[in-house]
Amino acid sequence: MADSNSPIADSGRSPFVLVANRLPVDRKVDDQGNQVWRTSPGGLVTALEPVMRQHDGTWVGWSGSPDEELAPFTHEHFHLAPVKLSAADIELYYEGFSNATLWPLYHDGVAFPQFHRDWWQAYDRVNRRFAEQAAAVAAEDAVVWVQDYQLQLVPQYLRELRPDLTIGFFLHIPFPPDELFSQLPWRSEIIRGLLGADLIGFQTPAGPANFLRLVRRHLHLRTRSDTVFLPDGRLPKVRTYPISIDAQGFADLATSDEARDYAKKFCEELGNPRRIFLGVDRLDYTKGLIHRIRAFGELFEAGDLDPDHDVFVQVASPSRENVAEYVKLRDEIELMVGRINGDVSRIGRPPILYLHSSYPRLAMAAMYSVADVMVVTPLRDGMNLVCKEYVACRTDQTGALVLSEFAGAAEELRQAYLVNPYDLNGMKSTLLRAANASRREKQRRMRALRKQIFEHDINRWADTFLTDLAQFREAR
Ligand code: F6P
Repeated sequence: MADSNSPIADSGRSPFVLVANRLPVDRKVDDQGNQVWRTSPGGLVTALEPVMRQHDGTWVGWSGSPDEELAPFTHEHFHLAPVKLSAADIELYYEGFSNATLWPLYHDGVAFPQFHRDWWQAYDRVNRRFAEQAAAVAAEDAVVWVQDYQLQLVPQYLRELRPDLTIGFFLHIPFPPDELFSQLPWRSEIIRGLLGADLIGFQTPAGPANFLRLVRRHLHLRTRSDTVFLPDGRLPKVRTYPISIDAQGFADLATSDEARDYAKKFCEELGNPRRIFLGVDRLDYTKGLIHRIRAFGELFEAGDLDPDHDVFVQVASPSRENVAEYVKLRDEIELMVGRINGDVSRIGRPPILYLHSSYPRLAMAAMYSVADVMVVTPLRDGMNLVCKEYVACRTDQTGALVLSEFAGAAEELRQAYLVNPYDLNGMKSTLLRAANASRREKQRRMRALRKQIFEHDINRWADTFLTDLAQFREAR
């Protein structure tokens, strides 16, 4: 691969190791037609870049392609230690157990979780492989931070391989209550897997509460406050760390000349409507897209919104396209949008602009900066960063955020217009209330939202977690 990559020069062992399903790089084709790696634009990658640099860290993860055997290499400030996944691993571990068992189960069962023993076996096998790779690249007494639901067995396997390590784990998605989690035939194995960590972090207080209850119920272990008492004397801690975004980075992007030009063109292409409603989501059944589109359909059909003046733009970025539920959802959405537009459109003015595509951060910042109402109505979401990005981009202190009560972010963003996405009439009236609110009212709310987000950004999240982890290491 033609790139600035270089193999890891030294012993390849780092004092800080991050383990995530995906590496923080994507493959792109450059102007000369060469394949190159680019650093992924996500918030986690941006936040961890300084931490990785400061500690000479290594990131363990999958490249995103099947059957690819890559030697460790360095890209920009990241040492990368790839884990190979075969086509069968991807089907059974990633699309299967991670995204058709755990994902729906952990999101309140909004789609039916499927339980298959061969998916579980693949999950177990692949988690062991990630742990082996992390054990191989971690220096003596290193700190290892494991991320998310795809890798819940890694802390235990890693501890067995390397008892000298300090291990943290953070779950980016919701952690379900006992009644749901207990459906899992491998529930005890997963709890034990997580307890390999010294610190287990969740997005909202429900996470620790649910987890500690399960520890008592299924492993019959004693817990007190945020601490689990293990038979070997270890005392893992279980706490809440709401993830956030690079707020200043988004604000700077939104006020750049490029974003302003993009935003102007975007509005012109929409026909300079009076009001823009915007939704930005991965195309996922947890995001409540069907309920949201139905609400807009009814508002346009009833004349509460006017297609001559109002438009609803829904960006739905392609995701997990080999998983059956996602294929079905895409068909349902496209049928629904087509019907509504067919019924309500005036020539050249479809009321719903549906974009099945991903956009760069600059384009997103530009769209946020001109969206009068941002509509974030998931049926369940661990946190939801889109709503935080929107708030960060509203440097004019206005705009309105309609936010689902079932997004983790709702616990922090109390000044949003909160909705229950299952309550169609409630959602419709709140959308209208947000759209019709006075400028003063919007500013009052937006100021409070911005204060929260700028005081609790992604750097604070990473610092807090890693500082706590370091303290527990001292106490060990
Ligand atoms: O929210 C969980 C998450 O795994 C994110 O970390 C990730 O950005 C997103 O879902 C999409 O995940 P993937 O495309 O890797 O399945």
